[in-house]
Amino acid sequence: MSLFKRTHTCGDLRLQDANKKVLLVGWVHRVRNLGSLVFVDLRDRFGITQVLFDPKQCSEQVYTTAKNLRAEFVIQVEGVCSKKLTANPNLSTGEIEIIASAINVLSEADVPPLPIADDTMEVNEELRLQYRYLDMRKGPILNNLVVRHKAMQSTRNFLSNDGFIEVATPNFGKSTPEGARDYLVPSRVHPGHFYALPQSPQMFKQLLMIAGLDRYFQIAACFRDEDLRADRQPEFHQIDVEMSFGTTEELFPIIEKLVSRVFKETMNVEISAPFVRMTYADCMDIYGCDKPDIRYGMKLKNISHIAEKITFPPIQDVLKASGIVKGFCIEKGADLSRKALDELNAFAGQFGFKGLAWIKKTAEGYTSSLAKYMAPEVMDAVSTAFKMEIGDCALILAGNKKPVNQALDHLRRKVAKERGLVDPKKFACLWVTDFPLFAWNEEDGRLESEHHPFTSPNFEDMHLIESDPLSVRSSSYDLVINGYECASGSQRIHDSRLQEKIFSILGLSAQSCKERFGFFVEALRYGTPPHLGIALGFDRLVMLLCGAENIRDVIAFPKNAKARDLMQEAPSPVPQDQLDMLHIRVRH
Ligand code: AMO
Repeated sequence: MSLFKRTHTCGDLRLQDANKKVLLVGWVHRVRNLGSLVFVDLRDRFGITQVLFDPKQCSEQVYTTAKNLRAEFVIQVEGVCSKKLTANPNLSTGEIEIIASAINVLSEADVPPLPIADDTMEVNEELRLQYRYLDMRKGPILNNLVVRHKAMQSTRNFLSNDGFIEVATPNFGKSTPEGARDYLVPSRVHPGHFYALPQSPQMFKQLLMIAGLDRYFQIAACFRDEDLRADRQPEFHQIDVEMSFGTTEELFPIIEKLVSRVFKETMNVEISAPFVRMTYADCMDIYGCDKPDIRYGMKLKNISHIAEKITFPPIQDVLKASGIVKGFCIEKGADLSRKALDELNAFAGQFGFKGLAWIKKTAEGYTSSLAKYMAPEVMDAVSTAFKMEIGDCALILAGNKKPVNQALDHLRRKVAKERGLVDPKKFACLWVTDFPLFAWNEEDGRLESEHHPFTSPNFEDMHLIESDPLSVRSSSYDLVINGYECASGSQRIHDSRLQEKIFSILGLSAQSCKERFGFFVEALRYGTPPHLGIALGFDRLVMLLCGAENIRDVIAFPKNAKARDLMQEAPSPVPQDQLDMLHIRVRH
């Protein structure tokens, strides 16, 4: 047998191939030795094919080799494709089997540290990450990588055909302010000097607009040292886009078409466009967050004006302290048991709330944790505000606006998940617009950019920029899909004086502004076209395409929640001479 000359993959053969002489290669998925016959399930990325070793139909040597096979050996098998007596409906190749006449063991395998033939993904994730190459053999991660590949091709084709030029920008550069800490790379030739890995290519893509490129894109690697979550990795990829002379009315349809195209070409899913649009202020009001999942209802309702008549002292205290009373109605939620309500109460407790109030509307009247404190007409008013029908239940929190919104957002997501209100086949896309330009950093007691400092203010609010900067809106937008922030972008500042002013409002001294952004502000002075752009979190998009709940599942070799590569054991100490070369002394 000649090496590797396979005639088919392990997912190819069907009944119409019966009687063909074939040669397959792959991994031994399972071996069943029945004494007089040996059955081998042969696996590759494309599928599994059953191979039968029958001593009456192969040489003794072939049969002996087959008997000694173990899981994960790599073999080559020659034989005849035959109709199986009993078809296996669980396999695409289940109607046939190969009657083997020859075998060649290409590679033996130690017993793998994690089960591969076993479908379960319940293996300790640390072990899966340590042996990622074996984990991938199980299939789901590999399938996700195929989807990722298709999404990348689809993106490249779409944007290239729309006049966007793909440009690679450097990974060794200066810090880009995107709100996280930088990963630094020490320079050997410039002692004490460091490159920063890009948190995004933000300044480069704007410089490309100044350079006259007109339309740019890049599937860009970004690096951010921040706390990791299920949808965050320290290194990730963005579909980074920038265009000159446009407005959101041009950019939004391009991005909508891009997203629809990617969903269609990778998963055959239709996404309807144009996407819903909502301002940040409305979003916070209605959903308590800036990335709501709009596949289900349970919109929040502020009932502070009615709550004035609820005599429960803690609610009165909240209102006196300018807090709010807000909640949402769960359709048919009156079936929530006492235990379920206690659990939701404990969940609200994680956000600092002492109690979660509830009201159920039943055919017999209302029941409520606040029954003692609400006159019948107050109960009716609350019920009307929440548009409650018989059988519904409303959940209510009282407190400061920010934590109330935060807790209700999480409660809403939890209730939706637990009550099966989330349709996993549905994709709901939402543009959130008009974010505030600045946010208040409590820890440092200073203003910071809500997006990044290159975001243009909304010119309608310019008169407030010095007197009341926190109420200035920006010309920025996020794209939210199924509750995930999938993209973020803005109209950029293209006037160097305005850019300098924003830096100064952010508290950057002229000196530090010059050191960090001098080259950029100077570039703005040489004829800058108005421009805008966006970056889509590519890994997050692929998560949605694959239905994955963790970003690690769509990345070949991801880091764990502590930013460690468990396979390579990185980060790791380096030899002293390497540190010396980099002029670095490590303090332990
Ligand atoms: P932003 O910082 O919002 O904007 O990032 C854009 C998108 O990138 C994704 N993303 C991440 N994905 C995985 N892991 C992370 N740690 C991570 N951080 C961000 C999100 C996010 O919406 N330069 C601007 C874009 C612009 O203004 O054009 C930027 O980077 O999906």
